[in-house]
Amino acid sequence: MNIAQVDYDGLIPNNVALGQDERVKRALEKWHPGYINWWNDMGPEGFQESLVYLRTAVSVDPKGWAKFDYVRMPDYRWGVLLAPALKGRKIPFGRHKGEDAWQEVPGEYRAMLRRLIVIQGDTEPASVEQQRYLGKTAPSLYDMRNLFQVNVEEGRHLWAMVYLLQKYFGTDGREEAEALLQRRSGDADTPRMLGAFNEQTPDWLSFFMFTFFTDRDGKMQLEALAQSGFDPLSRTCRFMLTEEAHHMFVGETGVTRIIQRTCEAMKEAGISDPNEIERVRKLGVIDLPTIQKKANLHFSLTLDLFGNEISTNAANAFHAGIKGRYREDRLKDDHQLEGGTYPVLRLIDGKIQHEDSPALSALNMRLRDDYVGDCNNGVGRWNKVIADLGIPFEMKLPHVAFHRQIGEFTKIKADVAGNRLSDADWTERRDEFLPSDADRDFIESLMQPQLEPGKFAGWIAPPKVGIDNKPGEFEYVKIA
Ligand SMILES: [Fe+2]
Ligand SMILES: [Fe+2]
Repeated sequence: MNIAQVDYDGLIPNNVALGQDERVKRALEKWHPGYINWWNDMGPEGFQESLVYLRTAVSVDPKGWAKFDYVRMPDYRWGVLLAPALKGRKIPFGRHKGEDAWQEVPGEYRAMLRRLIVIQGDTEPASVEQQRYLGKTAPSLYDMRNLFQVNVEEGRHLWAMVYLLQKYFGTDGREEAEALLQRRSGDADTPRMLGAFNEQTPDWLSFFMFTFFTDRDGKMQLEALAQSGFDPLSRTCRFMLTEEAHHMFVGETGVTRIIQRTCEAMKEAGISDPNEIERVRKLGVIDLPTIQKKANLHFSLTLDLFGNEISTNAANAFHAGIKGRYREDRLKDDHQLEGGTYPVLRLIDGKIQHEDSPALSALNMRLRDDYVGDCNNGVGRWNKVIADLGIPFEMKLPHVAFHRQIGEFTKIKADVAGNRLSDADWTERRDEFLPSDADRDFIESLMQPQLEPGKFAGWIAPPKVGIDNKPGEFEYVKIA
C-alpha cells in the first residue's frame, strides 16, 4: 500500500496496514463503540444530526491531503494516519543520538513513553468536552463549522494516541485507552489530567482564546514529540501537526475578527478612547480591555501546561531520546546538552530573576519560552489590526509570573507586569486583570446564535475568505 493513501475499506480508515494486523485491528474495533458512545454523549450538543461541511484526511501527502464534503459528525471517518516514514531515520538527540530510530518500544522507556502518550491523549477528548455547548451560540454557520472541524479532529487525535497504546503497550495500553473514554473535563471525581482542560469554555471569545493559546501548547508538545526517537510516535505527531495548523488559524483569526469589529464600531461611533468601556459595549461589541483580560486568563492557564520550570522528568525524557525540543532538527548544538546551561526565570530571595540552570533540567522552561515567542508573534498580528484602524491600544501578554498554579510562581501573587502584590492587593485588583462576573455576563449577553447563511453576529467581522474557497453565503452547516 502507498503510505500516502488512506485505506477506507474497513471500519477504521488507516495508512498503517491495519488489514494485516489482526490483533490491533480487533482491539480498535472493540474500542470503537465506546468511542462513538462518548462522542454522542460528550460531543457537540444539539448538532449530531446536522450535515457539516467538513474536511476529512484522505492522504498524508502534505499537498492535498484532505477532501471536503457534508458529513453528519457521528459518521465522520476517524482514522489512524501516520506521516510517511523517513528512510534511515536516526534518533536525533539524547544519549542514543545517532542510533537507528526505534520501531518498537524500548523496554527501559516503556513507562515514560506510555505516560507521555496518555497525557497527550487525554487533552484531545477534553477539549471536545469543554466546547460541547458552543454550537448553540455560534456567531455564524462559518464559525460553527470551524468549531466542529476542530472537534472532529481532536477526536481523531484521540484515535492517534489510542492506536499507539493498543499497538505497542499490550494490556496496559488497552486499559489506558478505556480510561481515556471514562475521564470527563471538569468532573469532580474523574477529571481530565491537566488543569487547563478542566476549565470551562463558556463563550466564543473563550473558544478563540483557547484555540489560540491552548491549542498552541498542543502544537509545541506535538513538535517536541515529533522529534521522538520512537518512530511511530514521531510519525503520528507529524501528521497531527498538519491538522493542528487549522486550529491555530481558527483561534488567531477568530480573535482578530473580534478585535477588528470592535475597532470598526468604535471608529463609526467616533469613540477613540478604548477605555470608555460602557460606551463601547453599547455598540454591541466587546471592548478591547475585556479582550485583553480574556487573553490574560487563557495565557496564564496554558503556561501551567508546561509544568515545572526545573524538571527531572523532562530531563529524563530528553536524555532517553523520547521527547525533544521545539524543532530539535533545526537547532545547532550537540543535541545532548550534558554540559550546557539555560537561563531560567525563578523566584530567588523573593525576587523574580534569571538563573542559569543545567540545560537538561530546564527543558520545560525552554519549550515555554519558545511558546511565548510564538504567542507574541500572533499578538503582534492582532496589534497590527488595531493600529491600522487607528485605535490607541496594544494587546500584551501578561508576565509569566501572573496568575500561576504550577511552577516557580505559584507561591506569589503578581500583576500583569510581574510586580509582586500582597494577597490583599491581589484580591482587590483581580478584576483589573481577569474577567469579572460583570464582564462574563456582558459577553454572555452577546452570545446569540446567527444561523442564517452568510450572516455574522454583530460583535465579530466576517472572515476574509471562506473555507475551501466557498462564497460568503455558503451554508456550512445544514442544521437538522
Ligand atoms: Fe489535538
Ligand atoms: Fe488542536
